[in-house]
Amino acid sequence: FKLLVLNGPNLNMLGKREPETYGSQSLTDIVTALNAQADTLGIELEHLQSNAEHELIDKIHNAWQKVDFIIINPAAWTHTSVALRDALLSVEIPFYEVHLSNVHKREPFRHHSYFSDIAEGVIVGFGAMGYHMALNAAVNRLQNTHY
Ligand code: DQA
Repeated sequence: FKLLVLNGPNLNMLGKREPETYGSQSLTDIVTALNAQADTLGIELEHLQSNAEHELIDKIHNAWQKVDFIIINPAAWTHTSVALRDALLSVEIPFYEVHLSNVHKREPFRHHSYFSDIAEGVIVGFGAMGYHMALNAAVNRLQNTHY
């Protein structure tokens, strides 16, 4: 199986950025741990973080018929991007939406997501652990061990 992990804007600042909200791990720490988990599970994992919306959109288009599952933290684009939503719909690749923080505990503008109603699942508020939970769940789902 091939999985793609996508991270949106400002997530390259993890570890420095509002650590009380987003934790002390850097994105490199998180991705290194995810790669180790993917190796253990015997699956191929690719990661892209970008601060440019079109880069994530292009990456999603290129994943068409190549990637089995996507794990995405759209970050601030969660609350704004019809374009990223449409990109995911266009390739018909199932995905999980992940947020480090519990967005529902925060400002009202973070309560709406353009992704949650089309995601296979949503994980919020578990910090970096959320990515690991999503990876485990995605592999279980692809191997049909939990449905
Ligand atoms: C976030 C939550 C978003 O509201 C915010 O804009 C982010 C990170 C999270 O992982 O908790 O950048 O997606």
